[in-house]
Amino acid sequence: MPEADSSTTPAIVLDGVSKAFGANVVLDEVSLTVRQRSIMVMLGPSGTGKSVLLRCLVGLLRPDKGRVMVFGEDVASLDAGVAKDRRQLFRIRRRFGMLFQDGALFDDMTVGENVAFPMRMHTSMSAAEIRASVDDKLRRVGLPKATSKFPSELSGGMRKRVAFARAIALEPDIVLCDEPSSGLDPVMAATLDELILELHKTLGMTFVVITHDTAEARTIADTIGLLSRGKLVTYGPTDEVLRSNHPALRQFFARSTEGPIQVL
Ligand SMILES: Nc1ncnc2c1ncn2[C@@H]1O[C@H](COP(=O)(O)OP(=O)(O)OP(=O)(O)O)[C@@H](O)[C@H]1O
Ligand SMILES: [Mg+2]
Repeated sequence: MPEADSSTTPAIVLDGVSKAFGANVVLDEVSLTVRQRSIMVMLGPSGTGKSVLLRCLVGLLRPDKGRVMVFGEDVASLDAGVAKDRRQLFRIRRRFGMLFQDGALFDDMTVGENVAFPMRMHTSMSAAEIRASVDDKLRRVGLPKATSKFPSELSGGMRKRVAFARAIALEPDIVLCDEPSSGLDPVMAATLDELILELHKTLGMTFVVITHDTAEARTIADTIGLLSRGKLVTYGPTDEVLRSNHPALRQFFARSTEGPIQVL
């Protein structure tokens, strides 16, 4: 078995990852490990680099420094402009499902076509198999009747759930969710949390979830991190991190304006 698929190889390792845009240092020496089959939740104030971190994981952004290991392969060393690297990058990317912060659905496609899109692009599934899989994914996100609707006919929360269905369409090894619960009412947010837990249990998917929702973090995370001003200020097993009472984390959970996290 290649090392990349051994069950002990971490799903993700970041090793000293730094990224700046001009003078704006967004990630500053971030190092962490995400075990296979774990649910890692990253908290952090707005504008602190959480989405940039996700983009580095799938090679949509290249860090200035550091390694981004995905199942043992360094994504940060791959240059999308070089054909050989690009093939490797696409192969690694296929192991990810990504729920973008803004949903990013194709507006000119129906819901069903949106969810089917990755299957059409990346698999040789028959039309009937795709239809069955699309129905399954839409049922899982609680939208069994939305197949022939267009995104513009849906509420923001419904669009988010369609985007989630599309993210899990290829039953990826790692699902990256950028604020899955934002824009959802509390009941729907809880439903999505249950879905993440169910997929984790039944399909063994690894999740990296970015959220501002501390209740969501408590519910689903086995590992919690807090990113603040580009630094990973705390990271570890959920119960340890919550017990540690780190001042920035305490401030975050208490929704307080007093503390180390300052509004710029
Ligand atoms: N492509 C880019 N070019 C220049 N600056 C960028 C780029 N992408 C992100 N940034 C900057 O990086 C910083 C972090 O942005 P990021 O989107 O990661 O924040 P975030 O933690 O996800 O915030 P939020 O919780 O509001 O989504 C911001 O200052 C942003 O302006
Ligand atoms: Mg973001």
